[in-house]
Amino acid sequence: MQATAALQQMQPSYIREILCAAQAEGVISLAGGLPAGDKFPLELMKASIIALPDRPELFQYGVTAGYEPLLNYFRQYYQLPSHHQPLVCTGSQQGLDLIARAFISPNDKIVMEAPSYLGALQVFGLAQAEIISVSQQADGPNLAELETCFAEQNISLFYAVPDFHNPTGVCWSLAVRKQVAALCVQYNVTLVEDVPYRELRFKGEALPLVSSFCPDNALVLRSFSKIATPGIRLGLVTGNSQWIAPLIKIKQCADLHSSIPMQAVLLDLLTHADFDQHLKQLREVYQQRYQCIAQQLQQKLPAGCHFNAVDGGMFIWLTLPPCDDFALAKAALDNNVAVVPSSVFYQKGMAVTPALRLNFTNADIDELTIAVDRLVEVIKRQLDKNLDLKAVAS
Ligand SMILES: Cc1ncc(COP(=O)(O)O)c(C=O)c1O
Repeated sequence: MQATAALQQMQPSYIREILCAAQAEGVISLAGGLPAGDKFPLELMKASIIALPDRPELFQYGVTAGYEPLLNYFRQYYQLPSHHQPLVCTGSQQGLDLIARAFISPNDKIVMEAPSYLGALQVFGLAQAEIISVSQQADGPNLAELETCFAEQNISLFYAVPDFHNPTGVCWSLAVRKQVAALCVQYNVTLVEDVPYRELRFKGEALPLVSSFCPDNALVLRSFSKIATPGIRLGLVTGNSQWIAPLIKIKQCADLHSSIPMQAVLLDLLTHADFDQHLKQLREVYQQRYQCIAQQLQQKLPAGCHFNAVDGGMFIWLTLPPCDDFALAKAALDNNVAVVPSSVFYQKGMAVTPALRLNFTNADIDELTIAVDRLVEVIKRQLDKNLDLKAVAS
């Protein structure tokens, strides 16, 4: 038996591989998209977890769409219109996979910003979609490129991460949100709005979802990995019932339903009197960690390296002068700091901006300071080498 051609072509996730290397003794990891492990709301979840054996009904097979009391909570909390439905999935990653399996046939065209979330590149690659990239600016996608794409090609969907993008940290402006929604309606393109970092804003006011301006042209993907814990593997898709129904069919094939005991624990957590306080503290910790790494980088980076400030999320996108980003990430790992090179966030064959994705939420402030020292040392060494090579060439 052989893996399918599409699967054979798929590159294994560099990030999942580097996560292994990053766990080695002495390595500080800025590589994974990991939330702070010491800030999981386990105390708030404890009573609910301890009480699980007294609720045997939760351990029976359940309904594919999700645990009804949790679905009702989502209907109310997100104020879903009556023709929209929630579907609980096994992490928002599964939601993405279900959408691709339900709605994408080989060679269908989909649009993403470049660079892109690696997990989405993998899912849509496996579905054999033709992925068309539009460039990303400081306030969102390049609208002229997006409109040309929508107008000239038969686009099935636009996958977007408008709140604190992975890997760049970019948050779309209000004006861009409205214009993208208008373009989706005008050209009848479905928006898949993936918002796992939305609640992690530590500066400024929350902006409306893009889908709030085109609710019947959109599916929204949410994740509980960053505000609860990734290990519970729970996410949510919401949108027009007509689109949720095919997703439920596919989910029946995939795993029948997501863990009902964990859904019950999640509901108890989301409705816990102290949950808002947990979120507030989480944002404060992430802001402190961000400020620490940003300050260290500003003080120590050599000329030619640059990053834009972020108002939330988990990542800094550090752009570099022309260099081999893979070699740099490898040299950083040898110097005991793990980072992700930008190439992994682009489709094969695309022009890549040399950059590194730095996660600032998992390491503590002392570790972040040491990590920046180690990284800057390696970057300076690499840039000196570049200068030497230029000197030899001239
Ligand atoms: C943009 C984006 N979407 C989806 C996911 C998957 O999240 P989950 O843990 O809910 O599957 C991630 C995880 O890092 C992500 O960055």
